[in-house]
Amino acid sequence: MQPDHVLPYVFAEPIRTERLVLRLMTEADVDDIHSYQSREDVCRYLLFEPRTREEVAEKVAAHARATTLEKDGDYLQLALELPATPDASARVIGDSYFTISSAENSKGEIGWTLHPDFAGHGYAAEAASAVLDLAFRVLRLHRVMAELDPRNDASIALCKRLGMRGEAFFVKDLWFKGEWADTGMYAVLRDEWNKAH
Ligand SMILES: CC(C)(COP(=O)(O)OP(=O)(O)OC[C@H]1O[C@@H](n2cnc3c(N)ncnc32)[C@H](O)[C@@H]1OP(=O)(O)O)[C@@H](O)C(=O)NCCC(=O)NCCS
Repeated sequence: MQPDHVLPYVFAEPIRTERLVLRLMTEADVDDIHSYQSREDVCRYLLFEPRTREEVAEKVAAHARATTLEKDGDYLQLALELPATPDASARVIGDSYFTISSAENSKGEIGWTLHPDFAGHGYAAEAASAVLDLAFRVLRLHRVMAELDPRNDASIALCKRLGMRGEAFFVKDLWFKGEWADTGMYAVLRDEWNKAH
């Protein structure tokens, strides 16, 4: 089937899942986001080093303006908000990344980060499922991939949980934090996602 994606798309309304709200970041989120983006363990397999509060604030301001998906490189970096309960106020526990990697070929790329205090509850999978629904059901993209460090077991488990297929293993193709690192690629097609959900 030839590409039949629906672009441009403007992120205008938060996405609500069973337990989370996926929404644009705001200045008020900087402390929550800094609390995990400043950690060595969280950044171990991310492309950036732990960030200062100032660096996080700059990124959050830029991400808050990134609302349109139309051409290659356009992206969304959504805050994952755990809504308020009687015992705790709402807070951001992680973020979800999505970019158009090739509009011509109807392809996107997905990424994820959680505060370790909130890992192990299926929150990343819940958010990623909502992003894949957006990619396949709203944008009608053909294919979504995830690129990761093959040592990142938690990220590989998440890909598999989402039904993404391991498709490639590139040997020492990335100069990453002072060493040559391998890259793994996982992907899922729209037909596969729709059949499974
Ligand atoms: C990658 C990352 C987002 C995965 O987080 P996670 O919480 O393990 O992922 P999930 O949301 O899929 O949760 C799965 C875990 O929750 C458990 N779980 C509990 N309730 C669940 C539910 N309702 N649904 C699904 N899983 C549930 C699962 O059993 C699993 O536990 P396990 O790790 O003991 O097997 C997290 O490790 C992270 O942020 N790492 C640092 C940043 C990073 O490296 N990002 C990726 C770069 S490629």
